[in-house]
Amino acid sequence: MSHTKSRPLRSAQWFGTADKNGFMYRSWMKNQGIPDHEFQGKPIIGICNTWSELTPCNAHFRKIAEHVKRGIFEAGGFPVEFPVFSNGESNLRPTAMLTRNLASMDVEESICGNPVDGVVLLTGCDKTTPALLMGAASCDIPAIVVTGGPMLNGKHEGKDIGSGTAVWQLHEAVKAGQITLHEFMSAEAGMSRSAGTCNTMGTASTMACMAEALGTSLPHNAAIPAVDARRYVLAHMSGMRIVDMVWEDLRLSKVLTRQAFENAIRVNAAIGGSTNAVIHLKAIAGRIGVPLELEDWTITGRGTPTIVDLMPSGRFLMEDFYYAGGLPGVLRRLLEAGLLPHPDALTVNGNTLGENTRGAPIHNEEVIRPLDRPLVADGGICILRGNLAPRGAVLKPSAASPALMRHRGQAIVFEDFDHYKSRINDPDLPVDANSVLVMKHCGPKGYPGMAEVGNMGLPPKLLAQGVTDMVRISDARMSGTAYGTVVLHVAPEAAAGGPLAIVRDGDWIELDCGAGRLHLDISAEEMAARLERIQNMPAAPNRGGYQKLYVDHVLQADEGCDFDFLVGCRGAEVPKHSH
Ligand code: FES
Ligand code: MG
Repeated sequence: MSHTKSRPLRSAQWFGTADKNGFMYRSWMKNQGIPDHEFQGKPIIGICNTWSELTPCNAHFRKIAEHVKRGIFEAGGFPVEFPVFSNGESNLRPTAMLTRNLASMDVEESICGNPVDGVVLLTGCDKTTPALLMGAASCDIPAIVVTGGPMLNGKHEGKDIGSGTAVWQLHEAVKAGQITLHEFMSAEAGMSRSAGTCNTMGTASTMACMAEALGTSLPHNAAIPAVDARRYVLAHMSGMRIVDMVWEDLRLSKVLTRQAFENAIRVNAAIGGSTNAVIHLKAIAGRIGVPLELEDWTITGRGTPTIVDLMPSGRFLMEDFYYAGGLPGVLRRLLEAGLLPHPDALTVNGNTLGENTRGAPIHNEEVIRPLDRPLVADGGICILRGNLAPRGAVLKPSAASPALMRHRGQAIVFEDFDHYKSRINDPDLPVDANSVLVMKHCGPKGYPGMAEVGNMGLPPKLLAQGVTDMVRISDARMSGTAYGTVVLHVAPEAAAGGPLAIVRDGDWIELDCGAGRLHLDISAEEMAARLERIQNMPAAPNRGGYQKLYVDHVLQADEGCDFDFLVGCRGAEVPKHSH
């Protein structure tokens, strides 16, 4: 792409004037040892860093930032690294989802109020990718995503084990009495044995693939392992590229188009991606002003074969995925079959997604399978509606049991997560393999924060009988590393007065994934009477502070769980001077 290096720079409104304000902006920066010429006409590139030792998946990001800086310097820009709120999935309680929007506000205000012309978004752990893209999209400046990369394959007792997925599997095995507690705990160190994000196709890997499919990162960004030197080369190249993106004025709105989101939805189906992508893509789309509905997941996603054979749906891990060809390999498969909806969508390297993909090598057809030998013929995310979920619910077919995807069973109801925990181990729980486990008050307002508790563990007495899956329904989310016939994101949630709140033990529920239906089998009169009774129920308690802002303003799952006042693109107009 041809361009001149003479556009007016946003940062010049800080550093480019010979007056009192210019003096102040430059002088204080000079305490870092910056010579005069660095302030003259160079793009200032923010490196938005989610580094934190409390976000272990992003704990290596200072080193990644150093390589990004090398690239920025090489291309004639000037890097400025800044921290933003880092929400780590593993440590943050009650859930990192609670602070996704907080982090996005941090990103937006950090970009908007500071002298940056473009930004490199260092993302890794699940929520950090959507949070940074949301914040940057609301500013609409040139931005490129650099992901921290996945951990190496977990190793335990001679086998590969996957982040998260192994936890769920081993925990079920302990509960079923198949392994000892000591055997369970001995897997901890082997599961997480290098820097990086979860090595399964969990939410972090999914969102890294989404960033690449959307066109917001360089090819191969999603899969290169965190400790592979090529990850650092990619960081360097991304640093070089963002400088030119500033000169080209290649802003996010030119990349994050409706077409890009349709590509991402198709890719999510092909990779067997996390249900969390439904919420995050909606939130990102809302920030850039692209309309996106739950039905787009049906129209664009369903019918797409899942060809990436990764846990939790399949066998392999992200390290294998990179060696097999990574996301460009998947995109090539889709492109050649005419299944990539918009090959002409622009990406951050200035090429179209199709151009980036043509001829991408595939080295292992077990990991990236041919389309005629898929892992799941009809992948994607199943969108459900019905009187139990008037504003929708989701299920991931590739993680579900085919025999349960059309099911009628009687509800075992848990009023909230604590009720579930107190009741599930009861040997007298009137539950059998046909029962439907229903959990309420775990949605955005209810938990609060919509925790990943939707894949409720099965009752021990059924596990001991060899039952491995049951239909489960809630307004919660589920970890992208988890699996099962699990209906999630029921909207409206129970705490917002949704019909989920009125389900009782013994009610019959019908799930029909083929028809996209989730039905509570009671009469309309009974439904109305029960809904009437839950009117004016007291709101769930929250501890005030940020949680109050969250509960008061969070939108429902079908709207991406953004805050009502954050939706939309506000641009990066330079604010008034500070003095
Ligand atoms: Fe951070 Fe999975 S816990 S990526
Ligand atoms: Mg996760």
